[in-house]
Amino acid sequence: MGTSPRNGVHKGEGNGGPSPNTRDTLCGMASCGSCGQDNPEIARFCLACGERLSGSEPLQEERRTITVIFVDLVGFTSRAEKLDPEDVQAILSLYYDRVRSDIESFGGRVDKFIGDAVMGLFGAPISFGDDPERAVRAAFSVVESVRELNAQHEGLDLETRTAVNTGEAIVTLSSLPGQAMVAGDVINTASRLQQAAPVNGIIVGADTYACTRDVIVYEPMASVVAKGKSAPVEAWIALTSSNDPREGQTGRAPLVGRSRELHMLRQAWERVVADRAVQLVTVFGPSGIGKTRLGVEFTQSVVDAGGRVVRGRSLPYRDSSAYGPFADQVKQLAGIFETDPADLAIDKLRQTVASLLGSSQGETVIDHIGVLLGFETAGDIADRETLFFSVRCLIESVAADQPLLLVFEDLHWADGALLDLVELLAGRLRNLPVFVLALSRPDLLDTRPGWGSGLPAYSSLTLEPLGEDDSRRLAGYLLASFAEEDRDRQVALLAGTAEGNPLFLEQMASVVTEGPAARPSSLPTTIRGSVMARLDALPGEERGLLVDASVVGRVFWRGALAASWDSKSLGRILDALEGRDLVHRETTSIINGEQQFAFKHGLIRDVAYETLPRRRRSERHAEVAQFLEDAELSGTEATAALARHWRDGGHPEKAFDYFLRAGEQCGRGWAKRQAAVLFGEALRCLVEDDVRRRDVLQRQAVAAAAAVHVPDVRRLNSEPAPP
Ligand SMILES: Nc1ncnc2c1ncn2[C@@H]1O[C@H](COP(=O)(O)OP(=O)(O)O)[C@@H](O)[C@H]1O
Ligand SMILES: [Mg+2]
Repeated sequence: MGTSPRNGVHKGEGNGGPSPNTRDTLCGMASCGSCGQDNPEIARFCLACGERLSGSEPLQEERRTITVIFVDLVGFTSRAEKLDPEDVQAILSLYYDRVRSDIESFGGRVDKFIGDAVMGLFGAPISFGDDPERAVRAAFSVVESVRELNAQHEGLDLETRTAVNTGEAIVTLSSLPGQAMVAGDVINTASRLQQAAPVNGIIVGADTYACTRDVIVYEPMASVVAKGKSAPVEAWIALTSSNDPREGQTGRAPLVGRSRELHMLRQAWERVVADRAVQLVTVFGPSGIGKTRLGVEFTQSVVDAGGRVVRGRSLPYRDSSAYGPFADQVKQLAGIFETDPADLAIDKLRQTVASLLGSSQGETVIDHIGVLLGFETAGDIADRETLFFSVRCLIESVAADQPLLLVFEDLHWADGALLDLVELLAGRLRNLPVFVLALSRPDLLDTRPGWGSGLPAYSSLTLEPLGEDDSRRLAGYLLASFAEEDRDRQVALLAGTAEGNPLFLEQMASVVTEGPAARPSSLPTTIRGSVMARLDALPGEERGLLVDASVVGRVFWRGALAASWDSKSLGRILDALEGRDLVHRETTSIINGEQQFAFKHGLIRDVAYETLPRRRRSERHAEVAQFLEDAELSGTEATAALARHWRDGGHPEKAFDYFLRAGEQCGRGWAKRQAAVLFGEALRCLVEDDVRRRDVLQRQAVAAAAAVHVPDVRRLNSEPAPP
């Protein structure tokens, strides 16, 4: 495997972008690792057996949290014995096609077919942030599809058992688009769980359950005793799913902060009403920052002020029609329910339109809007302009009556056609009190760099993370049930980790309030998923550079990346990352002549770091240590950092020297407690019977005695290493 930084995968398009690194090249003949055949230098595949030749492709491995779905047919084998092989083949291919399209429609990928079983993957090669939820929804749709298949084919009675499981895996990305190989216990466990699922039922493992219980209804079941597992595996039966993805949770706490943003929106609303001037406002912010919540609070004040509000939401998957969110808004305007049959819906539409427009103009508009809503009407739309014109007529007539707020949620998932429609409404409507509120992640600007530009009344605002005080207040509300003395500590911990993201605060609070048993050792999987999705949405080289820089730490230097990135691309990529507000250039640097950078979000740094497989991580740490050593830094912090990088880079001898030196430096500065900790670190670099242990133990005891009571020395020794 080459020593290249991961040349990331972007939106499932394979390993895009130029490789900025040097790659192991093969000199002379390359022999095949599989059959031993010698191959010419340029060969990428073995001439004899067709195996990919090692070194011909830098394999990219990552640790990722993935969600696996396993579907198997019940008793199909016994049935298949009685059937003609051609019939078996026909049935199976129908079934596989359906399962595959169900999984893919939720953004997953079918990894393999094993006998009658299908294994699907979510979260690799890229993560959407809500992969467990997608997987469970896909499972429901598989069960539904099988039911439909049975109904459509006389005598067919397929039955399935399905399991969904979430966990960490090593993912090997190949150069083929969207391809990945995965390995990890999460897969074996999924397959074991699948065998324990009820017929036509879906069961999920603990992590999947924890990530999705807000949106899926579960029933507990007895733990599954699985072959090859020492402890029984916890499992839940999935019963039903709520219709709207990620809409299960509404705020549990009162609104904190955001008064400036609300004020701005309310003022804009007043202008819209007073001047009868159309406004488009886009609120940008990453997932969980509070866009929807802000929209809800604003909506409330609009309703209080006599406005009318309709809302539509783009979905990340399975969006049947490009105009879905707009169709939802029209339905709200006309009082149409999801469950209304088509003729009733058209009737309601007709009544609404007729009362607003004259009936002659009305008929055309009804036809057009009917098509947009997905109803079969007699209408036939000549072109998009005509359709948009009808939409305009409808909105004009509605807004003439009462000021109107159209909310478009999650516009980053919208189809281009809907974006056009929104811009058109904002651009062409005249002399009407219409406020268009768009809520979106910043990704929208990647697909539509010119969004909103050129419109007469466009503004945007970006939701920043909550400030320290607001974070603490929100954490305080969320942990209200906690005992007083423990609460302060937990509040501080949550506020310190969640980086001002209210959703992260909620997710962490719910883990904490479930008691120590439910407390995971690291970040909740839901948060890791969200952050991972942000990382995966970056262009490959930007992502790769972040991963590389993550090894250096929250603060890093340009030079620490120079070993794997050429200078020109390095500057360009760092600029791009700064433009995205992911890293920032610091005005000072502890290394003379080296530009110092810092990650804006510690969580992104942590999640990026976690993607590195152990071996790569260790190689990178050694490179960073070498860089820091060459920089000839002085000072305890730098020495200790050097020690840690050598340790994590697999050089305990060097680490030992530096820990010792850092300990001595600390001791001289009377930071005795810190000195004792560093001596403890030095001890951990030595094997049990190393003769130097006694000397270091002694120094540690002296330092510790000066700082704390002697009995604490024992505790210091058993303390885990600081990160
Ligand atoms: N300012 C806030 N005060 C209290 N809770 C908030 C605040 N902002 C967001 N929340 C809560 O955090 C969660 C995530 O917010 P949401 O609006 O869904 O984020 P987004 O739409 O940006 O993904 C919701 O439960 C929401 O009620
Ligand atoms: Mg939202």
